[in-house]
Amino acid sequence: MHDCTVTATAGKTDLTAVVIGHSARKLPRLVEAVAARIAKGELSGAQRVLAEDGTYLLVKPDEKPWLIGGENWRVLGGELASQTRAASGTSLTVLVQGTGAHVQALVEGVLLGDYRFNRCRSGKDGSRKKLIVRIPGHEKAVTEGVRVAEAQNLARELCDEPANVMTPQSFVARAQKELRGLGLQVRVISGVTALGRAGFPGLVQVGRAGSAAPALLEVRYTPRKRRGRTKLALVGKGITFDSGGISIKPGAKMWEMKGDMGGAAAVLGAMKLIGQAKPAVPVTGYMALAENMPDSDAQRPGDIYQARNGKWIHVDNTDAEGRLVLADVLTYACEQGATHLVDVATLTGACLVALGDRIAGLMSRHEAWAQAVRAAGQEVGEELWPLPLYGEYRGLIDHPHADVNNTGGPYGGAITAGLFLAEFVDEKVQWAHCDIAGPAIQTAGWRYYAKGMTGFATRTLAKLAIRM
Ligand code: BES
Ligand code: MN
Ligand code: ZN
Repeated sequence: MHDCTVTATAGKTDLTAVVIGHSARKLPRLVEAVAARIAKGELSGAQRVLAEDGTYLLVKPDEKPWLIGGENWRVLGGELASQTRAASGTSLTVLVQGTGAHVQALVEGVLLGDYRFNRCRSGKDGSRKKLIVRIPGHEKAVTEGVRVAEAQNLARELCDEPANVMTPQSFVARAQKELRGLGLQVRVISGVTALGRAGFPGLVQVGRAGSAAPALLEVRYTPRKRRGRTKLALVGKGITFDSGGISIKPGAKMWEMKGDMGGAAAVLGAMKLIGQAKPAVPVTGYMALAENMPDSDAQRPGDIYQARNGKWIHVDNTDAEGRLVLADVLTYACEQGATHLVDVATLTGACLVALGDRIAGLMSRHEAWAQAVRAAGQEVGEELWPLPLYGEYRGLIDHPHADVNNTGGPYGGAITAGLFLAEFVDEKVQWAHCDIAGPAIQTAGWRYYAKGMTGFATRTLAKLAIRM
């Protein structure tokens, strides 16, 4: 799965990549001639050139207006990894100059691009050759880029793991292992009895019929020297499999719902990065973990229960489960003193309809905070676009027998889901909701992402915490 190493040390390699326009190295004449043609736009795509002193790979970052936040460098990194493998090479030196940010993005692209979920593949597909990529002279960019990509690849791997393996309980076990030694405090509330007693009825409702018990995983980072009064909370939806429950989903592509814990996985990846980067503000990550299944013990459409904050919820559709597990955890994060709060969730198919599958939806009652989240995303090449929490639509989630209904009709489903969550967040807390249903799941592949899950929002959340 992680068959690639990136290092800043020099050494002999099969191939030498030259980033056109970003390398000052004197090159063989033949190589210079091809480089000049690429620079002029006469040749496009990676060019392989055989020179007296070895094989050169000539590449150039693509300039597309939508490839922001270093994305063109990540795409380039992904291409370098795949070109090296295509040439049956196992080692590559990259000659590149430039700002640390570009090189860091390139490093991220190499590792994100080379990631494959291969654990369940036998034979040569499962055991790829180890790749080594050398980027001499870029110690800091390599260290940072490797950290970011490894955290995001962890998030991806948790999502790619099938739901027979990745249950709420095994998620917790893996998280504990991954976070060891970082000085973070980990707390787990596990099982329906404990969750019920601790006041998380949404996790009980959704997780009670799962093949493994639901859990709330709480990971706390406390800085040594705290700056200001800011306290950040990150909340992730962690449905390890979403069958829809009694309101069962149709069969087509239901398997993709093994990735319905993309929000929780991104929070875990971000907490790992935060533990390493040690920002000046305290950050707590909350992961709401459950498996949504039909069973004799499952919740039913028509059930009404009381949430942590006292509001009564009518369950119109058991497939609108994400908002149920998140509601109490959002309330809890506010009780714990969060001043700033971000939740991330593969929450609605409606968000894909609204924004397509490569842009996340961003909803907030606090303009400035939403802008800060969006800016963090743009800085790391993840797009989140605002959708309104439009007050007039609040009526769509009214119910005659309860305070709030868990569905809001056929239109504006991403927004009514956001309005539902808003019912459980203290209005004084700066809160933003990110619906990542689109970009988290890319089973046809995207940019440098192979077919599967992306770990989307890991980078945004970590950047946000580090920027605060
Ligand atoms: N996990 C799904 C949303 C989803 C769909 C994520 C496709 C990624 C890709 C969520 O739990 C869900 O089922 N939402 C329903 C809500 C509806 C019943 C109000 C939906 O979007 O259809
Ligand atoms: Mn669902
Ligand atoms: Zn779901």
